[in-house]
Amino acid sequence: MSELLKPRRSVLYVPGSNSRALQKAAGLGADCLVLDLEDAVAPEVKAKARSQVSAFLSQRPSSRSEYMVRVNGADTPWFADDLAEVVELSPSGLVFPKVSSAEDLRALDDELSALGAAPELELWAMIELPEAVLRIQEIAAMSRSSRLACLLVGTNDLAKELSIRVGPERKGLLTALSSTVLAACAYGIGAIDGVFNDISDADGFESECLDGLDLGFHGKSLIHPSQITKANQIFAPAEHELEEAKAIIAAFESPENLGKGVIVVNGKMTERLHLERARALVAKSDAIDSLAEP
Ligand code: COA
Ligand code: MG
Repeated sequence: MSELLKPRRSVLYVPGSNSRALQKAAGLGADCLVLDLEDAVAPEVKAKARSQVSAFLSQRPSSRSEYMVRVNGADTPWFADDLAEVVELSPSGLVFPKVSSAEDLRALDDELSALGAAPELELWAMIELPEAVLRIQEIAAMSRSSRLACLLVGTNDLAKELSIRVGPERKGLLTALSSTVLAACAYGIGAIDGVFNDISDADGFESECLDGLDLGFHGKSLIHPSQITKANQIFAPAEHELEEAKAIIAAFESPENLGKGVIVVNGKMTERLHLERARALVAKSDAIDSLAEP
């Protein structure tokens, strides 16, 4: 399955220090779990979190979810131990927080190679510092020469750095959100929207998922199991989109349209670029269908 076909609609953070959450995580139906050693874990329990995450990865509970680990930043006292212990246990990849430049990723990628990390181990960069947004193209370009496979927006850290209030329209974050999607798209890698903090506000969550979808994100970062089903639904192709896509494919395949560049389908002007898009949508839907339920 190619990178962008891997469904990453729901990316759930699971604090490594929370044994109950770790116990439940594999069966929740998220496309991806980010086992967190960083911001969700207090300094006093960093070592405990690391050993609980290691135990989880060693047991590797069977699940349809991919297992990522968010390590502490390179300038923290926990980074070297996080890397040494976690890489051996072959998670799907590492989430690297507070990236500020391409050099950060180069250094980490070299370190992973020195530790003997498997080539397929992915690196996801958190875009959560203003300097990362300003250097977003050079960061995304690292996907050509490193394990970088996805950009994950850290909206809480960005709001803190910018000292902004985040309302429903996310005005102050729009440049960061949109630049991240553009850069990811230009280099063919994944882009995941940030978290929605108000667990009790289901309507607010839904509307922020739709906003992320409209901006072009492939999925959303989540903090609570109650957010998974909605994210999986919103970031999957809708039934009417699939029907439209199949109609476009069928129309271009019909003998009278052979060799035509532009046709009319259901009253709409439809070009071959729409055919490509329709095929991609069907492929994405098939990829989602092929995920085994827990
Ligand atoms: N992953 C897996 N399970 C989780 C979970 C998560 N992120 N968040 C909650 N759960 C589990 C709880 O353990 C609980 O299980 P139980 O009822 O079987 O004991 C159940 O879901 C309901 O949880 P609830 O009581 O509603 O929430 P809480 O008060 O225990 O926790 C938070 C609320 C916000 C502290 C918690 O959801 C959390 O830590 N989320 C992740 C935060 C994070 O990682 N932040 C960093 C990235 S921004
Ligand atoms: Mg952060």
